[in-house]
Amino acid sequence: MMETNLTDDQKMIRELISDFSENEIKPQASENERNSRFPSELISKLGELGFMGHFVPTEYGGSGLDYLSYIIAVEEISKACASTGIIVSAHNSLACGPIVYFGTEQQKQKYLPELSSGKKLGCFALSEPEAGSDATSIKTTAVKKGKHYIINGLKSWITNGSEADVAIVFASMDKEKGSRGISAFIVDLDSEGIEIGKSEQKLGIKASSTTQIIFDNCKVSSENLLGEEGEGFKIAMKTLDGGRIGVAAQAVGIAKAALEASIIYSKQRKAFNDTISNFQGIQFMLAEMTTKVEAARLLTWQAASLLDQGEKFTKQSAMAKLFAAETAMWVTTKAIQIHGGNGYTTDFPVERYFRDAKVTEIYEGTSEIQKIVIARQALSEY
Ligand code: CAA
Repeated sequence: MMETNLTDDQKMIRELISDFSENEIKPQASENERNSRFPSELISKLGELGFMGHFVPTEYGGSGLDYLSYIIAVEEISKACASTGIIVSAHNSLACGPIVYFGTEQQKQKYLPELSSGKKLGCFALSEPEAGSDATSIKTTAVKKGKHYIINGLKSWITNGSEADVAIVFASMDKEKGSRGISAFIVDLDSEGIEIGKSEQKLGIKASSTTQIIFDNCKVSSENLLGEEGEGFKIAMKTLDGGRIGVAAQAVGIAKAALEASIIYSKQRKAFNDTISNFQGIQFMLAEMTTKVEAARLLTWQAASLLDQGEKFTKQSAMAKLFAAETAMWVTTKAIQIHGGNGYTTDFPVERYFRDAKVTEIYEGTSEIQKIVIARQALSEY
């Protein structure tokens, strides 16, 4: 899946979101990040442009587009502002995604139109203080009582937590059954028995919100069970298969921004009576950065294309996330090196790219978890 293979529609969407990102998102990215300011008005505009329900079918108010064009949009947005990138990605992949793929007709009609328009924001509540990588060991419980489920527990690291209206919540109904005892629920966050807990102070992506959500005897209608009882873990894993392509695209966007900034800087900066772009030491760094960014993007696009074709993509999604996240960390490190002392200051954007890159190696499954997924898939192929 190469640049030249993009359809006219995909190219048009890229142009639209690239212009929007450059003109509307980028100018406020640095200040929003420094002040931990959630870009609500940008999210509303992205909703009006159709990017908050990118692959949601049109009959439910979405844009009805393919996953690859969504991934291209996440890359362009993240190139301007990685915080905005993850707000959009968590909303589309992790909140709209499971409703589109596993929701009943009634759930789709109730939730998707407002989520797609950007009037409501979604989040994904799986992780807990003692259950991150080991997602099977969540302690949050759901107990069936008549036509309701009663949810109790503490969720953490929830992207969009303080701003979201709707959460996909995972809870155990039977600890003895392990992953097969977990169920998924669509929960309105203005319900009684829900409190937004601690807001995390983070290394990067500070314009996005990351919070705890506390459930204290929260009553959820049985109509809000997503899929069947006991299917929650598989819903979480399948959702994350798609979400990880979004994080890979975010990482590619961050790396691309750092690469472009480095090329421009190296052609302006002078040392030893020459512009530093003429030095082989700098050129070799730029060459490796360029190659890695391109390779990360190809892996990311490949995973998205497989999803669009209805093929298996679990391995490709994990490979894309692993490689793109490590590329983002490596490329942003080199970008600071090329910028020298300037790169270490907030006068230049590369220190933000460096801080933003780190989380792509952590959320939606750490790099080590991606390696477990890739190895299991590879071993099962022979
Ligand atoms: N698709 C469908 N089913 C899957 C699956 C997939 N990709 N992966 C696993 N399953 C199924 C298995 O087939 C198995 O099914 P059976 O019971 O029928 O056999 C079941 O799920 C349990 O799977 P495993 O035995 O593989 O479970 P495990 O305990 O070994 O865990 C893991 C596997 C890959 C390590 C998983 O726990 C994992 O992905 N952990 C990381 C979780 C993660 O990414 N968290 C991020 C949360 S979101 C976030 O970051 C916040 C945010 O807002 C951005």
